[in-house]
Amino acid sequence: MDNHLDAIQTEALAVLASVHDQAALREWHAAHLAKKSPLMLALGDLGKLPKEQRAEIGRRGNEVKRTLEAAYGEKEQAVQAEALARSLGENAVDVTLPGRQPRPGHLHISTQTLRHIYQVFGEMGFQVYEAPDVETDEFNFGLLNIPPYHPARDMWDTFWLDNPQGGGSRGTLLRTHTSPGQIRAMREMVPNPVRVILPGKVYRYEQITARSEHQFYQIEGLAVGHGITLADLKGTMLNAIHRLYGADRTVRFRGSYFPFTEPSVEVDMDCVLCNGVGCRVCKYTGWLEVSGAGMVHPVVLRNGGYSPDEWSGFAFGMGMERSLLLKYSIDDIRMFYGNDLRFLRQF
Ligand code: FA5
Repeated sequence: MDNHLDAIQTEALAVLASVHDQAALREWHAAHLAKKSPLMLALGDLGKLPKEQRAEIGRRGNEVKRTLEAAYGEKEQAVQAEALARSLGENAVDVTLPGRQPRPGHLHISTQTLRHIYQVFGEMGFQVYEAPDVETDEFNFGLLNIPPYHPARDMWDTFWLDNPQGGGSRGTLLRTHTSPGQIRAMREMVPNPVRVILPGKVYRYEQITARSEHQFYQIEGLAVGHGITLADLKGTMLNAIHRLYGADRTVRFRGSYFPFTEPSVEVDMDCVLCNGVGCRVCKYTGWLEVSGAGMVHPVVLRNGGYSPDEWSGFAFGMGMERSLLLKYSIDDIRMFYGNDLRFLRQF
């Protein structure tokens, strides 16, 4: 029996020596230390042995069991260490490599452009004045010399927020242009001179196309003072266009009509793509429209609190996205609000 136990031990240790992973270790435990293993069966059969042999064989059997359990414990640790070493070797981490750089975002092209415009006009003494996006009929039209019956209202397709029945004023709306801010700025600053730009979103109930959005940015400008003339408007626009689009741009003024300026002009510059020769972008005219502008109408001055007998002023209003379409040859205005990173990352 002693020999049988020795053979069990020798065989079990020999098999254990060739074990190198958890699965084989579990198999080995089931075969050599579990209930039905030869060792456990031999210990279970002790009662069948002659009485005088039982103690000696029992002692030796327990000794083999302890030896195998100890060997199992050691092997378990070795297998774990081996598994760790293997995994470290296979999935090597080079701790000396630099970390992965996070990809930081950046300002939207519209925000970058707005800031550039603030800087250019800031250097000419204009401060930024913010006016509300939700306006009243009175400020968006009435005080700007566009009474309810006036056909000029058709120039601005309007998002009305309410439409009370009866009466001339039709309530509130999303501003169709930044011009109502002129009245707000004048009323706040009267009786001092005014030199402000009014940037912000404007909204129009328009068909969305490659050239037209229903929301876009305008930058309004307003200067009110003593003895301000059209020459000041020309000088300001010329300097701004040279700073924004390049010092070699040619600028022209042509007559136009806005109810809140008199005289009114459109400010154009020679086409940035063809340099005035004529191309698809400038519709073969050689010119690109930059801004509506003019001398502040006496009615508007008065509505702002300034007497037209003593004060005069100029105003302009530029659409921001359309100028960017031209500057960067972008062929669809919808890109500005599409949140497509492939577009935004180019700027
Ligand atoms: C105005 O809105 C006047 N308030 C501008 C003004 C201010 C004139 C002060 C005189 C004195 P207009 O409707 O033309 O004018 O719009 C001005 C600019 O907004 C246009 O030149 C164009 O660049 C831009 N714009 C107009 N409609 C759209 C549109 N649907 N999508 C994108 N840009 C537009």
